[in-house]
Amino acid sequence: MASLLKKPFKLALVQLASGGDKAANLAHARSKVIEAAKAGASMIVLPECFNSPYGCQYFPKYAEIVLPSPPSEEKSPSWHMLSKVAAETKTYLIGGSIPEFVPETKEYFNTSLVFSPTGKLLATHRKTHLFDIDIPGKIKFKESDVLSPGNKVTIVDIPEYGKIGLAICYDVRFPELAMIAARKDAFMFVYPGAFNTTTGPMHWTLQARARAMDNQIYVAMCSPARDMEATYHAYGHSMIVNPNAEVLVEAQEYEDIVYAEIDGAKIEETRKGIPIYTQRRFDVYPDVSAGKVRYDE
Ligand SMILES: *[C@@H]1O[C@H](CO)[C@@H](O)[C@H](O)[C@H]1NC(C)=O
Repeated sequence: MASLLKKPFKLALVQLASGGDKAANLAHARSKVIEAAKAGASMIVLPECFNSPYGCQYFPKYAEIVLPSPPSEEKSPSWHMLSKVAAETKTYLIGGSIPEFVPETKEYFNTSLVFSPTGKLLATHRKTHLFDIDIPGKIKFKESDVLSPGNKVTIVDIPEYGKIGLAICYDVRFPELAMIAARKDAFMFVYPGAFNTTTGPMHWTLQARARAMDNQIYVAMCSPARDMEATYHAYGHSMIVNPNAEVLVEAQEYEDIVYAEIDGAKIEETRKGIPIYTQRRFDVYPDVSAGKVRYDE
C-alpha cells in the first residue's frame, strides 16, 4: 500500500478566543498562527467562526463576500489576513470558518477557506448540514433561517502531503463524509466546530474518536475557546485523534494551541493490526463513496 501521507508533519490547532471586534479577532488569529508556525507546525487550523462571536444573529454583521475569488481586501479582510499569514509563515492554513455572504442570491454560508504556503486559496468548504432544532418550550436554534447549506464533499489535495477531508461542526455527526474521504485516500479529516457545554461533554470526543476508529485516519477538531461572557458557550477541548482512535492531544476550555505529529506509518500499522480496510463486504452492503458523490466544481 502506498503511504497515504507522503511525509510526517506537525499539526497545530489554535483554540482561539474571539470577541465582538472583528479587526482585533483577525490580528489575534494572525499572531496565534505565527506562534504555531514558530513552534514548528506546518499545518495550522483555526476554529469555527474565528472572526466573530458564535451565533446566527452575528452572521449578517460579520459576513464577508469571498466570490468572485480573489475578493478585494475591503470585501473580505479575513480572506486576506489568512492568505498573507499563510505566505508569511509558509504553512498550510485551514481557516476555521467565517460567515460568507453572496449578494446576488442574498445567501449566507458558513465557509472554511484553506490556503497554501504561498498564500494561494486551495479549497473552500461550505457547511453542508445545517443545525435546526425546535423543541417547544425548550430550545430553538434554526440555522436554516439564516444560512444556506453547501452542496459538496470537500477533499483537499495537498501535493506535499496527501488528501485531507474538511467539514464544519455539525457535519461531524454525518459519518458518510469521513467515510467517503477515507475511501478516497484521505489521511486525515479536519472539523472546525463549536459544540456547546451540553453536547460537548456528551459527544465531542466520541465523535472525533468514532470517525478516526471507523476510518483508521487522523481526526482533528478545532473549537473556539469558551467565553462565559458570550451568548454561546463553546465546549473547547480541541483535539487530535490518531488512526487507532487514541486522543493524542486535547486542549482545556481556555485559549491554547495544541500540537501533534501526524505520521502515515501509524495509519499503515493500525490497518495491518485491524484489517477492516480490506475486509469490507461491498457485496453485502453499498460503499458510500462509490455512488453519486458531489465534489468541488
Ligand atoms: C446545547 O445544545 C443542545 C442541542 O441543541 C441543547 O439541547 C442544549 O440545551 C444546549 N446547551 C446549552 C448549555 O446551551
